[in-house]
Amino acid sequence: MNPTADDLRSRINPSAVPRHVAVIMDGNGRWAQERGLDRLEGHRVGIGSIRRLVEACRELGVEVLTLYAFSTENWKRPRREVRGLMRLLAEYLREETPRLAEHDVRLRVLGDLEGLPVSARREVRRAVQATAAGRRATLNLALNYGGRAEILRAAVTAVREAAAGRLDPASLDEQTFAGLLDTAGLPDPDLLIRTGGEIRVSNFLLWQLAYTEFWFTPVYWPDFDREHFFRAVLDYQQRRRRFGALEPGD
Ligand code: IPE
Ligand code: IPE
Ligand code: MG
Repeated sequence: MNPTADDLRSRINPSAVPRHVAVIMDGNGRWAQERGLDRLEGHRVGIGSIRRLVEACRELGVEVLTLYAFSTENWKRPRREVRGLMRLLAEYLREETPRLAEHDVRLRVLGDLEGLPVSARREVRRAVQATAAGRRATLNLALNYGGRAEILRAAVTAVREAAAGRLDPASLDEQTFAGLLDTAGLPDPDLLIRTGGEIRVSNFLLWQLAYTEFWFTPVYWPDFDREHFFRAVLDYQQRRRRFGALEPGD
């Protein structure tokens, strides 16, 4: 018999839970198309998977969860789909903000907010403000996010600061540069999950994924549940993270 989610949960070592989990939530469109539904229906059902995952992360004590919700490349999609995604985002934020605040979760945004439609931007700002006091965990939503764009924005800031005499170029190290990225102050992801079967990073967290453990699954995002997540964490706990060094006994 297949182990249940609770069986899997009981096998997780509570002292080695990933601090930061990042997720490329892919496969909504195919999930819908295979059912003869509109792609937007896949995105809508995918919100349920977000809710389940936020809950499961709370259960395990994950400190940071980063969700790739809309990439800088996703603007290439039909206008109707982009508009539908923005509407779903606003709905999710409106409904979820009280629950996040209640659970002491702070919402943060990665990406260029200025590029979002005004109504979506307003909802995002409101949700970020309403949850600003959250101390228990951070939920990062990557919106209009691209890893290259983020690194480039940080580089432009560094150059400007140097030109203004506020930053000594000779002292610019990895730690200072990381502090200019959208993830400033957060640990790098320990675990990256990508659903939907593609084996690529699609411009996600290019700087921060340097030593992240990757976990890919063909499961479409709307079908991703607590059991899949616990499997990913259990797999992660089997990995030997060497960070370029050797292990005792090697
Ligand atoms: C991921 O699902 C959600 C976003 C990119 C916003 P997709 O919409 O990419 O689903 P597929 O990959 O076409 O199935
Ligand atoms: C990655 O999925 C972006 C998000 C999940 C928001 P895509 O569906 O856009 O990625 P590609 O096009 O397959 O690389
Ligand atoms: Mg996709």
